[in-house]
Amino acid sequence: MDIFQAITGRRSIRKYKPAPVEPAKIKQVLNMARLAPSWKNMQCWRFLVLTGSGPRGALAGAFPDDNPGKKALVSAPCIIVVCADPGESGVENGIEYYVADTALAFDHLCLAAHGLGLGTCWMGWFDEGEIKRALDIPEGIRVVGITPLGYPDQSPNPRPRKELAQIAFCEKWDNPYQ
Ligand SMILES: Cc1cc2nc3c(=O)[nH]c(=O)nc-3n(C[C@H](O)[C@H](O)[C@H](O)COP(=O)(O)O)c2cc1C
Repeated sequence: MDIFQAITGRRSIRKYKPAPVEPAKIKQVLNMARLAPSWKNMQCWRFLVLTGSGPRGALAGAFPDDNPGKKALVSAPCIIVVCADPGESGVENGIEYYVADTALAFDHLCLAAHGLGLGTCWMGWFDEGEIKRALDIPEGIRVVGITPLGYPDQSPNPRPRKELAQIAFCEKWDNPYQ
């Protein structure tokens, strides 16, 4: 699969087969995340991989019941908690770049997973404090997102995207890029 197929074909997957993910594939997606660019190459990201059933209940409890991905947190064979140490990134123009750094790594992970036939779903709607307590994550670390990882048990249609002319401008703001 080339990079264009990976970007075009990736979907948020919220239903997984119970088959475990091979440890080599988990390692491979983490290694692809590790190659993302970051503020001053400081690589503030951290990943907590959960393959056991231990803290799953407590983890799911940190997500509202109407979060559409909540069930996958219990059923997926693997969960990756994507965290950041903000002290290893920068703040410029009021932008806290640890979020950008970690988002880039997270997207690398999701695309690499898709390339290996695995599904992911970035989940950001949760109670961070509850997650940190459930997983014993240290004080200064932020939880940026969480994804299930596993073999998809659904093939969702593409979600709509804005037209290019709505989001890209040519030479002058508001002059649609055609
Ligand atoms: C920052 C962020 C937070 C998200 N949080 C959740 C979430 O809590 N639960 C969920 O089911 N999906 C979540 N999503 C997935 C989006 O709903 C999904 O990416 C979007 O609908 C587009 O669908 P696609 O990923 O299949 O293209 C999140 C995505 C991002 C980027």
